[in-house]
Order: sequence, then C-alpha cells, then structure tokens
Amino acid sequence: MEVIIRSDAHAASRLAARKIAALVRREPSAVLGLATGRTPLEIYEHLVEYHRNEGLDFSRVTTFNLDEYVGLDPKHPASYHAYMEGVLFSKINIDRGRIHLPDGLATDIPKTCRDYEARIRAAGGIDLQILGIGSDGHLGFNEPSSSLSSRTRIKTLTDRTRKDNAAYFGGEESVPRHVITMGLGTIMDANVCLLLAFGRKKAAAIAHAVEGPVTAMVPASVLQMHPRAIVVLDREAASELKRAEYYQWVYAHKPDWQKH
Ligand code: F6R
Repeated sequence: MEVIIRSDAHAASRLAARKIAALVRREPSAVLGLATGRTPLEIYEHLVEYHRNEGLDFSRVTTFNLDEYVGLDPKHPASYHAYMEGVLFSKINIDRGRIHLPDGLATDIPKTCRDYEARIRAAGGIDLQILGIGSDGHLGFNEPSSSLSSRTRIKTLTDRTRKDNAAYFGGEESVPRHVITMGLGTIMDANVCLLLAFGRKKAAAIAHAVEGPVTAMVPASVLQMHPRAIVVLDREAASELKRAEYYQWVYAHKPDWQKH
C-alpha cells in the first residue's frame, strides 16, 4: 500500500485528479471505476476543469460505478445515477454508451449483478478504481463481514451507513435498506485502487484499514492484499496512523517519475 498524506482535502483531491488525468492521457480508452459520496466531489470538479481548459478527452473512456440503491429511480436526486450525471457525465464529452451503473430497478437482481460483472470483463477490466471509505470501514457498499472475495451483489446497509447518508434523503427513515454493489473481489481485480479519505471522522477506519489486520470486519483492509493500492489522505484522516511520518518520508523521497 502506498500512503500519501497531503495538508488538506483540496491538495489530496488535486493529486488524485492528476493521477486520473495522466492515465486518461496515456490510455485514452481507459476503464475507470467510479465512486460517489462526498469524498470524490472535488476530483470530479478537477476532471471537468481539465476537460474544459486542457481538452482532456473522455470520448473513449469507459466507466463503471461501484454501487446504486435498490428501488431508487435513476432520476431520484439521491440516486447515484443522478449524482454522476450532475457532477461529471453532463459536463464532459463521455460517450453515454460507455457509462455503466448497477440497475437499482432491476427485477432480476442476481442476473443484473452477473451481467454487470460480465460487462466489466468484456471492457477488459478496470484500470483504475476510485474508492471512498465508510466510517465503518466499508468499501463500495461492502459492509463489515462482507466476503473478501465477493462479487457484485445485493447488500443490506448497516444503520451507521444509513445514518451517514441520511442527509441526501432528508432523513434516515427514507434511506433505502438495500444496494447493489461491486464486491470486494470485483474491486480487487482493478489494476490500481485509489482510496481517498478526508476528515477526522475517517481516521479510525483508515487506521484499521491500513495498519490493522486484514479482516472482513474492516472491508477496506483487503486493499493490503492489492499490488497497487494508493491511499490518499488529508492530515485529519491520517491522524490515527502510527507510521504517518514514515509514509510522508517515503513519499518525499520518491523519484519524480514515480509520483505520477
Ligand atoms: C460510494 C461508495 C461508498 C462511499 C463511502 C464514503 O459509491 O461506494 O463506499 O465511498 O460511503 O462516503 P463519503 O465519501 O460520502 O464519506
């Protein structure tokens, strides 16, 4: 795991956005795994800015989102379809046929999950997966006790996650109980996993995921087994890491070419 600590969430988001833009410039038909939530918002703002000001071309990029709520219309403002449309897809030149999100309205959920996996395979796999972490250590919506080798499937949200996301629905009682999420095994198949976390609220989850044992009780800890997992944090999210100084020292002494 490579742990990169920046002074604040702005600097961390900028660094992550630059890495993604560099990949798209290098490989115009890159396959990106996307996350929703508060954490990646600024990354998407930067990608839109690179598209508008520097001509970053998304026309051949393919995307797969991590998850979607079950039973929520894609037009519902709290759906991840609507989120992605609002923050990114409507603002870049992406080919709509290359956008993929799990279908929360599917009547045959096991089939839609199998199809999602098949589409990822058919696209040649995910080159870079953007990830946030839940305060309970979840990755995607793989809540604690999720199998470390799980594939895309339906999951039940914990009360803690429903509380964390209540603001989007105007109250906890309206947050759906079920989601379709890529599994931990699906996420682990990505070439590069880019996990971001900002703020004090994520510090314990990050410490467990990065320095604790690999355990299904902290789903994000599975990234310790990934050959190319990059964890980008602000100071607050890094505040419970025992080896924070060491990670900073390592990053400061990296050759420039390795930083991109
Ligand atoms: C979102 C997702 C979740 C979030 C996590 C953190 O697609 O899969 O795992 O990344 O819940 O959410 P925020 O960024 O809102 O703190």
